[in-house]
Amino acid sequence: MKLILLGPPGAGKGTQAAKIAERYSLAHISTGDMLRAEIASETPLGKEAKAIIDRGELVPDEIIIGMVANRIKQPDCVNGFLLDGFPRTIAQAESLLGFSEIDRAVCISIPDEMIIDRMAKRRVCPACKRTYSVEPGSRWEQFFCTECGARLITRDDDKPETVRHRLEVYAEQTYPLVEFFRSRDMLSEVDGTGTVDEVAGNIFRLFEGE
Ligand code: AP5
Repeated sequence: MKLILLGPPGAGKGTQAAKIAERYSLAHISTGDMLRAEIASETPLGKEAKAIIDRGELVPDEIIIGMVANRIKQPDCVNGFLLDGFPRTIAQAESLLGFSEIDRAVCISIPDEMIIDRMAKRRVCPACKRTYSVEPGSRWEQFFCTECGARLITRDDDKPETVRHRLEVYAEQTYPLVEFFRSRDMLSEVDGTGTVDEVAGNIFRLFEGE
């Protein structure tokens, strides 16, 4: 299967992508994680991307398209892949459909208030990239990764003012993709407001029926 996971920042794309990729043995391709790896390695691309990401803007199409086109040629994509965070503009979507077949685009929808709450609680493991939701006033043990023990961090682009700008950018530049894929009969929409397992169940039912 070749899938796209769409949805606003904080909708739970990364959380669900990990579950979908594991269940269907797909390569999980997160353009956000790829860019953050470039930033951590302090490459020229990483330095350029950091300033853009920290402002809550989108990295230029030509950079992202080239990254994804190369990534899906890797051997782990032979049995299928799941694109998490790509495409994000109409130009990226048109380009993708030119260089790869895509079976389905799944859009996870949640209201903005819930996004702002989830982002405020999000912590990530800088080592293994696992994502956590940490309640205010949590015990200190909850600030360490349960997989690898690293201290969890807050993403620089999860500051409330940056989150609000990312939501505006999503509405202007990425939301039009919902209609783009709907008009091609490629879109499935999923309610993302339930628990992680409920949302995963909604997604699995799309592929496996009731
Ligand atoms: P990226 O990393 O892709 O960020 P995003 O799309 O904004 O999405 P997030 O990672 O913020 O959220 P998510 O939907 O994955 O939610 P998560 O599962 O973490 O991109 C970052 C930046 O890189 C972009 O702003 C842009 O600058 C650049 N970029 C990337 N791709 C690009 C492209 N194609 N073109 C141009 N630029 C690009 O969940 C959020 C929180 O909620 C977590 O704490 C999680 O534990 C919790 N949670 C998840 N599900 C649930 C649930 N059901 N109930 C309760 N809590 C939940």
